[in-house]
Amino acid sequence: MKILMTTSEAVPFAKTGGLADAVSALSLSLAKLGHEVRIVMPRYYSIDRRKLDKLEGAMGVPMGSGEEWCAVFTTDMPGSQKKNPVRMYFIDHEIFFGRDGVYGTPSEPDFLDNPRRFSFFSRSVFQLCRKIDWYPDIFHAHDWPTALVPVFLKFGERQGKFAGARSVLTIHNLGYQGIYSKNNFPYTGLGWNVFYDAGFDDWNMMNILKAGLNSADSLNTVSPTYARETKTQEHGFRLDGVLRYRSGDYAGILNGIDTKVWNPAKDPLIPVPYSTKDMSGKAAAKERLQEEFGLPVNQDIPVIGMVTRLTEQKGVGSLFGPSYGSAYSICRDMDIQFVILGSGESWCEQEIRSLSSRLPNFSGKIGYSESLSHIIEAGSDFFLMPSQYEPCGLNQMYSLNYGTPPIVRRTGGLVDTVENFSQEAGTGTGFMFDDLTPHAIYNTVGWAVWAYYNRRDQVEAMRIRGMKQDFSWEKSARKYVELYEKNLER
Ligand code: ADP
Ligand code: GLC
Repeated sequence: MKILMTTSEAVPFAKTGGLADAVSALSLSLAKLGHEVRIVMPRYYSIDRRKLDKLEGAMGVPMGSGEEWCAVFTTDMPGSQKKNPVRMYFIDHEIFFGRDGVYGTPSEPDFLDNPRRFSFFSRSVFQLCRKIDWYPDIFHAHDWPTALVPVFLKFGERQGKFAGARSVLTIHNLGYQGIYSKNNFPYTGLGWNVFYDAGFDDWNMMNILKAGLNSADSLNTVSPTYARETKTQEHGFRLDGVLRYRSGDYAGILNGIDTKVWNPAKDPLIPVPYSTKDMSGKAAAKERLQEEFGLPVNQDIPVIGMVTRLTEQKGVGSLFGPSYGSAYSICRDMDIQFVILGSGESWCEQEIRSLSSRLPNFSGKIGYSESLSHIIEAGSDFFLMPSQYEPCGLNQMYSLNYGTPPIVRRTGGLVDTVENFSQEAGTGTGFMFDDLTPHAIYNTVGWAVWAYYNRRDQVEAMRIRGMKQDFSWEKSARKYVELYEKNLER
């Protein structure tokens, strides 16, 4: 099968969240299964053109506002197999993408011209196919930035060499929908009748994801539980009705993780590799973690770790919210160390800095660091994820694989990947709670800490159970293949 992934991010080229990990790993797995996979994404300023090959000639992309010209660069996805590499294409347009930031910058989190940038990008993928004379069976779009691809396919492009093509739209996060003034709609080049036919209309605004959900041949999200939750008013972000309407075409497929990158037995970013047979390297990682974060080196004190975007979705309000956050009382009352790596909302960054200076057992680093994130996964005793909602979540799978039981809220993909600890049965891989309140977080961290001091054997057994779980992509990639095949039969 020929599959074209259309995406705004993909590791190692550009990443703001798990979407980038998921798209690349899924593509590599599909190629391993023998499919012909190509990925197209924008060439952001940070992606060095000198390391890529340029396709000959410029490419014109028709938009409502006239034709836009761009260049196309290409290379093979790192980590590809030699015999069936995943080919990458980068759409190079200086005005739209030659700047810092994927969707925005700290001072302008959502670029004003995003509807125009991503209309252009989504239209350019069809021109690219014509240019390289390669026509996919499946256009696979991800989240709102490429949700126009299925709309363009349905309303206009599905003819000639695209006549048999089908589209899949994956929801990685329903919280971001691309809602803009409808004054931007003409950039798409679509007629106003499509504004209503495709269901862009959202209280007189233009909702890009909503139109994509109405237009794609198949929809899915990144865990079975989140698929169910998004059909409810509580988690549907006002699109639950659309998703209920499309129930028959809407599946939940759990993400995997890249086990080449996230494997404690082969991880070059941790001091000593370890596995279920010999866990001594985990103690070395804990020592390194305590040193890196300026905490007293002590093997006997439990370390709670976090790596996260600092946004409301991740439950940071209940942890760090001014005057009521639970991180402060956890550190004050419990014999633990708390480390966090993250960046995001500035109030939260400030609070983390302030706690770091006020509490001797709390240490936060603001920023993004691949290597520190590996040290935290490996060196912590427990990994905390009190998410408000979580479509899939990758960190809890990383931490399970690193023998670091996660403490999670019972929501979305966390439900599908973590099993709650039972002292009686001696089962489970982590600790779960239901309510997103400072109290519930406090109590559940307290439970894990209690187990660490009083049920040490059970905690050690729990680490091993987590490490034995299989989160590789292959299983999930096969489910995507089934989804594509079902689509093509129609
Ligand atoms: P989301 O995509 O909602 O942020 P995921 O758990 O799916 O959540 O994926 C987040 C990814 O981003 C993980 O690979 C995680 O390790 C990484 N990440 C998030 N924040 C940081 C950070 N500050 N430094 C390094 N990696 C980070
Ligand atoms: C989103 C979600 C996260 C998921 C990731 C990859 O960023 O917030 O839960 O793991 O996409 O699908």
